[in-house]
Amino acid sequence: MSDGVNKSNNKKEVRVWCDGCYDMVHFGHANSLRQAKALGDMLIVGVHTDEEITKHKGPPVFTQEERYKMVRAIKWVDQVVEGAPYVTTLETLDKYQCDFCVHGDDITVTADGIDTYHLVKEAGRYREVKRTAGVSTTDLVGRMLLLTREHFKRGDKEYTVALEHSSNLGTDSTARSPYTGCSQFLPTTQKIIQFSSGLSPKPTDRVVYVAGAFDLFHVGHLDFLEAAHAQGDFLIVGLHTDLEVNRYKGSNYPIMNLHERVLSVLACKYVHEVVIGAPYEVTAELMEHFRVGVVCHGRTHIAAGADHRDPYIVPKQRGCFKILDSGNNMTTEDIVQRIIRHRLEFEERNNKKEQKEISIMKSAQKNHLKQNGNCDVKVFPG
Ligand code: CTP
Ligand code: C5P
Repeated sequence: MSDGVNKSNNKKEVRVWCDGCYDMVHFGHANSLRQAKALGDMLIVGVHTDEEITKHKGPPVFTQEERYKMVRAIKWVDQVVEGAPYVTTLETLDKYQCDFCVHGDDITVTADGIDTYHLVKEAGRYREVKRTAGVSTTDLVGRMLLLTREHFKRGDKEYTVALEHSSNLGTDSTARSPYTGCSQFLPTTQKIIQFSSGLSPKPTDRVVYVAGAFDLFHVGHLDFLEAAHAQGDFLIVGLHTDLEVNRYKGSNYPIMNLHERVLSVLACKYVHEVVIGAPYEVTAELMEHFRVGVVCHGRTHIAAGADHRDPYIVPKQRGCFKILDSGNNMTTEDIVQRIIRHRLEFEERNNKKEQKEISIMKSAQKNHLKQNGNCDVKVFPG
């Protein structure tokens, strides 16, 4: 256990442990880490290797190096432990001087169907937080796969069925797991407040402005935002509307809607403020309103506006436009291509995961009826 002392009130520092795959890091992961951090002072996050994930769940979409980097950039994370074991042991908690482990209120099992948290639960060193409904890697992969023709046709039907049966454990053919099937994320102002920095730029701060889609927030975005952050003191990210992104990207982009993209970007430690539905052109009014000192874009293509104008014409004329090299050439399209290439593996992985969850939920329901609803795990509200 931790010997550290919280300097502000002389109380013992509470060190919290979280672990997981954190594949295609999304705001559901970030929200679980936010809640975990609120239960203590220091948040240590263990991330599994590609090998461990492949063994227990199926191949991850992102490499371990990409996943480590993404988790490290989430603003509530104090430390990342690379290659954390799939089953959380007391030795691991002790090694990193963590008081307890926190996980969402969903089911995580090994390849052999064993609860990965059984050891810490038995030792009373386990806490639960509410899983963020309506977002999961599985859901995002599903949206991407809808880009292929066959899925497009079946898409709407599948989505409706998933919603109708999101907690239906009835017959085997219709049963759906609420953790794996698609469901709908309901954005609230409270979530935005919880995610935002609440900071305003100081009068002396140099304000940096960047704009884009930031769809399926990935390591390319992250490297770019780190470079943009280094250009000044206060970073504002303008997010284009779904209609605007669809105008210049086509197909069924963006994969994540504006509300979802807002939370993904706000969870990044380099970002101070987000403009929700920024105008495509960086206008003089926008620059004056936010007292923007420098406007940046990465090395990716700059699409013209609907009016055929260069969206950066004003900052260029003012001599405050910079192209930054993120050193990373990942794009949202690359991620979609990775998924489509490995489509069958992902479908198999999702089916297996869902079947495991359903059988565990069914047996838990039976036990619950037998024991008349006694539950010894406390779930903290989201
Ligand atoms: N989590 C959450 N809300 C979500 C998704 C994940 O709170 N919508 C939490 C999980 O409960 C866990 C942590 O994020 O505490 C890490 O999850 P991870 O191991 O990456 O796997 P999954 O729960 O399977 O998440 P996903 O289906 O998105 O891969
Ligand atoms: O493509 P999107 O609009 O999401 O990009 C947002 C910003 O991130 C743009 O400035 C883009 O050039 C930058 N970026 C980058 N390196 C990447 C991906 C995006 O610099 N690999």
